Order: sequence, then C-alpha cells, then structure tokens
Amino acid sequence: MPNFDLVFREARILENGADTTADVAVQGGRIVAIRPCVAGTSRIDVACAGRWLLPGAVDMHVHLRDPGLTHKEDIASGTKAAVMGGVTTVCDMPNTLPPTISLATLRAKADRAREVAQCDIRFFVALGKDNIGDIATCIGEPSFAGVKVFLGATTGELLTETGILERAIDALPVLFVFHAEDESVLLRNRGIAGPTPDVTSHHKIRPAQAAVEGARRIAALARPGMRLHVCHLSAADELRVLEETPGLTCEVAPHHLWFTADDAVPAGNLLKVNPPIRVESDRTALRSALADGAIAAVATDHAPHTLAEKSQPYLIAPSGVPGLDTMVPSTLMLVQQGCLSMARAVDALSTAPARILGLADRGLIAEGLRADMYLWNPSSTWTVKKKDLATRCGWSPFENIKLAGRPDGVWILGRRVA
Ligand code: NCD
Ligand code: ZN
Repeated sequence: MPNFDLVFREARILENGADTTADVAVQGGRIVAIRPCVAGTSRIDVACAGRWLLPGAVDMHVHLRDPGLTHKEDIASGTKAAVMGGVTTVCDMPNTLPPTISLATLRAKADRAREVAQCDIRFFVALGKDNIGDIATCIGEPSFAGVKVFLGATTGELLTETGILERAIDALPVLFVFHAEDESVLLRNRGIAGPTPDVTSHHKIRPAQAAVEGARRIAALARPGMRLHVCHLSAADELRVLEETPGLTCEVAPHHLWFTADDAVPAGNLLKVNPPIRVESDRTALRSALADGAIAAVATDHAPHTLAEKSQPYLIAPSGVPGLDTMVPSTLMLVQQGCLSMARAVDALSTAPARILGLADRGLIAEGLRADMYLWNPSSTWTVKKKDLATRCGWSPFENIKLAGRPDGVWILGRRVA
C-alpha cells in the first residue's frame, strides 16, 4: 500500500513568504506533509523540477450568469475557465435571473453547482428592499459567502436603499461586500458628456468621486468586529479613504491594474465596465497599493457579456469584462515584470481572499489544508488568443497581450482537474 495519494517532488514553494524547495505529500484530499524529502511511496509522483507549487487562487468576485443569462456564461463554463487558469474557489454574485435574494434562490444555485461546477463555489446574496430576514436564514448554509450591496446602479438593478444597509449591518454578523459607486454622484454626472456620450466618456459619467463617496459611506459605518469589504477599487483617491479606516478590506480587478482610459478608445465597449477604467495615475496607485499590501486581494469581477451585446451603441452595451481565464497569468506577469513580489502575488490571489471569506481550510500550501494547488513554470508566457479561452462569452480584454504562462497542472482536493 502506498503511503500517499500524491507527492509533488522538489517543488518550489513559499514557506512563511520565503522561497523554499520541498516535497509536498497529499492524502485524502489534504496536504499531509511538507519536508525537504518525503519518505515513502505514492500512487502518483509529480516531478516539479524548479516549478512553483502554489495554492489555488480564490476569486471572491465572479458573475457566472446562472440561472437566466446562460448565453453569456453558466456555472459549468465559468468554473471551467477558473480551473484552466489556476482558480480553485470562486464566489458568485447575485445579479442573475432570478437574483439570489433568499434561501430558496441560494439553494437552487448550490444544487446546480453540485451537478456541474468544476471548482468549489460560494454565493453572495444581494441586500434588496426588504430581505434582511431572508438573508438571516442563509447564515450557516455551506454555500453562503456573504451579502452583496450595490450602492450605485449597475448591471442587474439591485440597488440597496438607504436605511436598509444600516439595519442589515447591525442585524447580520456576516461578510458584506460593496459595489461602492455612490448613486447620487452617478445621477449628478449623467448629462456631463453631452447628448451623445460614447465610451471615451464612461469614466467621466461615473467619475472617481462616485467611488470616493461610496468608500466614505462604508468607512462611516465601520466598527471593530465588522467584516466590510470594498469591491474593485478603481481610483487613487479611494485608496486614501480606505487608508484612514482600519479594518476595511478591499480588492482590485486585473483590468484596473492593466488598462487606462486611453485603451478604452480602440477597445470600443469591450472595456466599458463599472467602475470604469480610469487614468494612468489611478492605475499606478492601484499597482503600488497591491504591491505594498494596502489592497489585500485580487478579484476578477468576471462579468461576461457576448461580443454581439458589446457591439451595440455605447448607451445600450452592457458594462463588464470577463477575467477568470486570465487572473492568475496577468497577476503573475506583474511578478515577472518586477512590479510585485511573488509573496504578495500569492497572498493577493489566494491567502488574503480565503482569509476575508473566512475559509480557514485553504489559501496556503500548509499541512492540514485542502490540496487545492497549481504548478507554474516561472519562465513560461502566454500570449492570449480567443481559441484558448474557456469562458462562454469567447473573448478577453487581454487578447494579444503577453501574460505569464497558465498553470501546468491544477489540483482540487488532490484530484487533477486541469
Ligand atoms: C457587472 C455585470 O455585468 O454583472 N458589470 C460590471 O461592469 N462590473 C455588474 C457589476 O458588478 O457592476
Ligand atoms: Zn461585479
């Protein structure tokens, strides 16, 4: 009888942030030993030879469109894109048809996921007009990730009304994640680009001020012990508000780390997204905040829409870009380019989101944790092509851009999935 199901031999791993070489043994879906040389036999040996063995990425912000909008994506295709790209846990957002606003709609998604999901998946429930009691009944469900709050209108019309938010935060001891563009600022700026706005004015119609006001509203609510998280930071000024509020966590999306409003012109509506892609000084500030840890996590805000939907006129075309295929390769490219340390990249992709979500069983290569991991060759690259993508929407804002290579192999609970 072999002692282990799987042993990764001579893997490069991060141990307390330090670059180390070790054998990593897996048994029963868990990491059971990490040593310079693991003695004993295994059913499968993987010779790592200089490649990194990294904890599976945890993407705490994806829109898998299932049910109701499955021509854009569904749980099967979205989680396939995840695992191909090294993502082993995703958290789905509630703006589906029907929206996730109750125990019944949460369980319907979880049931579907049990049949078709390729990776672990949790679901956010939206705070709506009058569903605090409904959300309370979701607490304790294994698939419940937390509460999503929309402070500004975006795809799906799930705006949270004033007053409800304060009551919900008092009543529900859970993670709250915020789409933090403030609706009153958005309404004030509606007409700013004249009668025929196009995509070049998207970041003026939804200015940084909306994100700053949103962040201020959240900061004003924060008290010790609360779990408040700001989604997709997009502006340098937003960072300043958050710096002054200990205890708030936040995430940044790859598209805000990579693109500026100048890229939005040739891209047409493809880079139309909420919050918008802003200017170079914002991108630079977001990159350095990720590098120094002020921004804890990378999350995609994977928001697939079809090319046909995106080629409609600016005012009609939906906002959102896909990101699951490219999250890990784009973040590790920042490491290859010297913008980010390997330790910060792994923390932002895996450890920090797992901690924010309260998932203590993942996010690190460590004994006792789930064997969710991927193998990555640090000298590999990938120039993104349509044909390589697993997302159903079939396109990526990173097409023809050179990123770090995709994983050589991906394992969930010790089972090879890609
Ligand atoms: C998201 C979508 O399409 O669901 N779009 C987007 O631009 N990010 C909705 C959202 O999260 O705002
Ligand atoms: Zn989103």
